[in-house]
Amino acid sequence: MQNIEDIVARALAEFSAAAEPSALENAKAGYLGKTGELTALLKTLGKLAPEDRKAAGAAINVAKEKLEAALDARRAALADAKMQARLAEEALDVSLPGRGRGHGGIHPVIRTWERVEAIYRSIGFDVADGPEIETDWHNFTSLNNPENHPARSMQDTFYVDGKDSSGLQLLLRTHTSPMQVRYARMHKPPIKVIAPGRTYRVDSDATHSPMFHQVEGLWIDEHISFADLKGVYTNFLRRFFETDALQVRFRPSYFPFTEPSAEIDMQFAEGPFKGRWLEISGSGQVHPTVVRNFGLDPERYIGFAFGSGLERLTMLRYGIDDLRLFFDGDLRFLKQF
Ligand code: DAH
Repeated sequence: MQNIEDIVARALAEFSAAAEPSALENAKAGYLGKTGELTALLKTLGKLAPEDRKAAGAAINVAKEKLEAALDARRAALADAKMQARLAEEALDVSLPGRGRGHGGIHPVIRTWERVEAIYRSIGFDVADGPEIETDWHNFTSLNNPENHPARSMQDTFYVDGKDSSGLQLLLRTHTSPMQVRYARMHKPPIKVIAPGRTYRVDSDATHSPMFHQVEGLWIDEHISFADLKGVYTNFLRRFFETDALQVRFRPSYFPFTEPSAEIDMQFAEGPFKGRWLEISGSGQVHPTVVRNFGLDPERYIGFAFGSGLERLTMLRYGIDDLRLFFDGDLRFLKQF
């Protein structure tokens, strides 16, 4: 039967051309479905002469089996190809290095904080911590800044609503100096302490941040002099900047809590800041009124204090020119330390 061979040939071609299971099933319907070509042929058997019927029936069955086998093979091939494609798509390259977790790092200002602590501890200073929400009394009054005295306006202050349990006005400490009084009232001389920590002022530009860090230093005993301050602070700077090639000068200044008061300037003999006098710290001999507020007799006890900015020290150590970089949280900056 020429017709059967033709049908089988076209069916096989269509099956192998089907790229999708749905196309394959549509092709199948065209031949083996209710109205398929082979099915139609089967329906014509009744009209054949009885002697031809058997041979024709057998030929159609052979053709049908052939198409069903081809169909099964094609279905399997399509399913297999789909699986292969999916495996390829979901393949894991186990040789790739993992993404891992980013390692945290120590912030450059905190690095400075830790270095400062290590240096002062090594020459016998204690390290103290205190409240960032301070009383007006500790922050100003005890440090010889009387209420309504114009010296108070040297620092733009964040006041806090409410008072402490003794009815004292609260504020964010504008410097670490109140720690002088807190510590001295709790310890007997000799008092030798640094107090690093966060401080706050209403100030914000390339060299000022509303939150910044200071370290306070205080050494009180029966005969601690300005010469000791010079020795201690110069030694500190040489160790902090890891060079002896720097000069230190004490420039007269004013702070209510010291008398005399001095601004400490330094100058590198080499490096990017070479030859420039750089302001690095306030300092002075502690004012008798403040010593009295320590609970000590200023006729007997004397000493020095200083207050230095940790951001400033960090900027000079690493050559950073914009303070805001410390607080932007930009990893490109932070990863350099
Ligand atoms: N507290 C001062 C400030 O923030 C800095 C300072 C100056 C601290 C002189 C001191 C000092 O201990 O003696 O501007």
